[in-house]
Amino acid sequence: MKFKKVSHLIGEIDVPGDKSISHRAIMLGTLANGTTTVTNFLQGADCLSSIDCFRKLGIQIENKIDTVIIHGNGLHGLKKPTETLDVGNSGTTMRLMSGILSAADFDVVVTGDASIQKRPMGRIMTPLRLMGADITSLNNNNCAPLKINGTKVHPISYQSPVASAQVKSSILLAGLYADGKTSVTEPFVSRNHSELMLNYFGATVTSEGTTATITPPEALYGREINVPGDISSAAYFIGAGLITPNSEILIKNVGVNKTRDGILRVVKAMGGNVTLLNKRLQGLEETADLLVKTSSLHGTTIEGEVIPTLIDEIPLLAVLACFASGTTVIKDAAELKVKESNRIDVMVTNLKAMGADITATEDGMIINGGAELHGANIDSHLDHRIAMSFAVAGINASGETKIKGSECVDISYPTFYQDLNRLIQ
Ligand code: S3P
Repeated sequence: MKFKKVSHLIGEIDVPGDKSISHRAIMLGTLANGTTTVTNFLQGADCLSSIDCFRKLGIQIENKIDTVIIHGNGLHGLKKPTETLDVGNSGTTMRLMSGILSAADFDVVVTGDASIQKRPMGRIMTPLRLMGADITSLNNNNCAPLKINGTKVHPISYQSPVASAQVKSSILLAGLYADGKTSVTEPFVSRNHSELMLNYFGATVTSEGTTATITPPEALYGREINVPGDISSAAYFIGAGLITPNSEILIKNVGVNKTRDGILRVVKAMGGNVTLLNKRLQGLEETADLLVKTSSLHGTTIEGEVIPTLIDEIPLLAVLACFASGTTVIKDAAELKVKESNRIDVMVTNLKAMGADITATEDGMIINGGAELHGANIDSHLDHRIAMSFAVAGINASGETKIKGSECVDISYPTFYQDLNRLIQ
């Protein structure tokens, strides 16, 4: 797809449902007694992979697009699938489902696409094995495909070397089946949607500092969930609204959970004009409308505990840093190397191709803002967040920006280009 400079972005949008929350709704709905009804479910390829896998595990899931209905079969109601489970591009499906399958009463093989088969699974295999799980990497490289022979699991207190909600959630989900309390401590707090939703479904999860602890419940119970809009998807419009001249965008119904709102804190520190309107609790999650206006941005340092709260927004923040005065330093973000692509390398290579002054570091990037960006051929590496970040850069660069593999936005935001185009008209 090709992009050219635009003069303004004006209008209102509703970004699609939150990806993390949509995955968890499928999984807890599956393990609950009774029916779970999910509205504003994200119909992106990743969440459809979760539906597909749990259907193959014997769960009846009706996808009526605006509503998804999961006919839960209880904590012990999964059936051995007749084929390998394929999570596609979805790390969340892979890691969270592996926690559940560790305690199943059958064996199963789980795999995914080329990107998934390169992503580290040792980070869940280690703690799940400490719980007694029988889980192996079929290629002996700590990556998918994984063979999981379901077995009895035991409680652990695990000190995770990484702040990762996927690791934490995988352990908490296995902890549903352990014969005692399981806890996970992280270096910094990661997104807490699993903890909130597990409590809502009738489990007991407590959070103290960076430790989350689950007490195994007798049962989970089906619930109604209205998924807020995904702040990680809203981020592209926050960014585009801030750097595109003469812009004003109202982004409605965005989840602003404190463990996800780092983007708001950082753009504020950069001088961005984003106002939270109509802040409310929508079910479990804080939600607001975001009013974004063109702003002159300045550089900042992004590091430490804010990193897990904006981990998926760092590619977009790197683009914003190019349009800010002064230097932006991003550190403590080595996790970017093991996302859908190596997001440090891919951002640095592509932004350099557009004329940016950017340097990769071991755990982040250093960007000197102010260099005029020009169009270039961008390789998304089929990473949805890279494609959307460069769409934002492309509509603010001279000449033409061509994004290879731009259709990968389907993973988390199938209508991204249509929504962007509506604001350009
Ligand atoms: C997610 C957690 C994050 C994030 C991913 C979704 C989740 O990954 O990058 O897009 O739903 O738990 P990590 O846990 O690997 O940081």
